[in-house]
Amino acid sequence: MYFSEELIDEIQQKNDIVDVISQYIHLQKKGSNYVAVCPFHNDKNPSFSVSQPKQLYKCFACGEAGSVFTFLQKYENYTFPEAVKILAERAGVKLPEENNSAANRAKESRRVRLLEVNKEAAKYYYYLLRSDKGKVGMDYLKRRELTEETRNKFGLGYSSTYGSDLLSYLKSKGYTDEEIIGAGLASHSEKYGLSSKFWNRVMFPIQDSNHRVIGFGGRVMGDGEPKYLNSPETEIFDKSRNLYGLNFARTSRKDNIILCEGYMDVIALHQAGFNQAVASLGTAFTSGQANLLRRHTKDVLLAYDSDGAGTKAALRAIQILRENGLAARVINMEPYKDPDEFIKNLGAEEFQKRVDDAVNSFVFQIRAIRKNYRIDDMDQKTRFEKSIASIVAEVADEIERENYISTAAVELGINREVFRKAVGESALSGTGKIAARPKSSVVSEKIKAEDHKRKPQQLLLTWLAEEPQVYEKIKQYISAEDFIDELYQPVAKRFLEDLEKGKANPALLISLIEDPEEQTKVSELFTTRLTDINTKEERQKAFHDILIAVKTNSFEYYSGQTGTDISAINKVIEGKKALQELAKTHIFLD
Ligand code: GTP
Ligand code: MN
Repeated sequence: MYFSEELIDEIQQKNDIVDVISQYIHLQKKGSNYVAVCPFHNDKNPSFSVSQPKQLYKCFACGEAGSVFTFLQKYENYTFPEAVKILAERAGVKLPEENNSAANRAKESRRVRLLEVNKEAAKYYYYLLRSDKGKVGMDYLKRRELTEETRNKFGLGYSSTYGSDLLSYLKSKGYTDEEIIGAGLASHSEKYGLSSKFWNRVMFPIQDSNHRVIGFGGRVMGDGEPKYLNSPETEIFDKSRNLYGLNFARTSRKDNIILCEGYMDVIALHQAGFNQAVASLGTAFTSGQANLLRRHTKDVLLAYDSDGAGTKAALRAIQILRENGLAARVINMEPYKDPDEFIKNLGAEEFQKRVDDAVNSFVFQIRAIRKNYRIDDMDQKTRFEKSIASIVAEVADEIERENYISTAAVELGINREVFRKAVGESALSGTGKIAARPKSSVVSEKIKAEDHKRKPQQLLLTWLAEEPQVYEKIKQYISAEDFIDELYQPVAKRFLEDLEKGKANPALLISLIEDPEEQTKVSELFTTRLTDINTKEERQKAFHDILIAVKTNSFEYYSGQTGTDISAINKVIEGKKALQELAKTHIFLD
């Protein structure tokens, strides 16, 4: 969906960031800013800061940053268009018709209808569970030791032995057969007509991050097959991009997320106070789900079943998490089968200990693989060690690989250098990534140097955002090309143009970007902390240093780029001259 810059600007101006964020967390005024305990990580001090003049927020502990749009995308998990829509409504800004074409409207209203059908069905199942007809289900849930509070929190319900009850209820509410089928609640056959999908099951409504019911899981009463029946994928139910329990877990304010296999595990964990538990939706864990998790945490704890199938699923999940840039740890559930049984037998405190002791996923991998070998046989032991070495050889980052080597050497009880050699051999045999990418260490060095170079760029633009009048004094020395990061450059270009016109608005520049991660990254340019500078002389000096650093980095960058192109070489020579001149110049700030 396309929104014009004017529109974004208007919506932003009418939604003061302090007002909006105050609706979610408690902000306290401190100097010219507002501070709070950060809602995006497990914060102890108020590290979260909102600048009213800049209309930007930033957490100086976890790095989360952005505009009012970013905040809603991250806190409420809205998409960019959703955030735009919500804020437009809040401020009474009318969105133009073109964003609301007939086709879009039809699609939207279809989704809305299907969500409504599900919501009505959930209400019906909920009611039934608590009525006489739901006694089987209620007894079952009580036997599983779920409290009333928990049953209500998860909106648990029951589908009766007469599936047609639900269908007549939904029809009485005005939903068509086609809509009921579209929501996955029933199917049609020549022989039986419309028939309910769920029948004599305890019902688990599956909610998206915004608490909308997108599907159901139903557990059979007794020993029928399948034990769990789930709604099919529909226009509103994508099993690979949602997680059971995430609607609660994402505001749990814990610094990790516990990933388990079953709905009952999630519920038992929440009931025991682990409100950061989630589960996949009756299918194996997917890369889309890993992506979703990454938006909420850096630390994923696996609480999979302790049996063979559970271990296998955990190994696969570890791999998917790793591919998506997430480290995982594994909770040891022994001697119990799953978190639900564990909590019932040993309680929450013992589970917390297991959480604290969760082993790094690589150690878990080593231990799981070891079970496939007879370690007392020399030959098998060697093969086992080689298979571990081949996993380590896959790790491209050198620092990370060193950590793996240390961990493995300890875990295998062999000499570190001996193991390192095995890793090298495995790499050379052509399977590992080290062989494929021999320069990986150089690459990571380079990334660190790049970070170092970004800092002065961030400081300079932050300074200009806070004191736009300084721009006049330095504009002869600085241009957008000096911002050598590919994400920064277009933003810097636009920001300098705006400064030239005397109407700088960094928050708008950020809000014009759709991707929340990019918004956060670009926010760095305007929200870097200018460390405590007290005297005028210190300010003077600090500013000069920043300017010189930006120019020097840019000069070095462009000198490295030129081949024999005369005009490029000229530019570098000019740049050098400007730099020398700048070094001698005094820029007086006020
Ligand atoms: P109970 O405690 O016996 O209710 O089950 P559980 O929570 O221990 O579940 P189990 O370990 O058997 O399965 C874990 C998860 O896998 C469930 O929550 C379901 O999402 C899914 N699952 C289990 N059985 C089936 C099945 O027969 N079909 C499908 N599609 N999914 C299932
Ligand atoms: Mn179970």
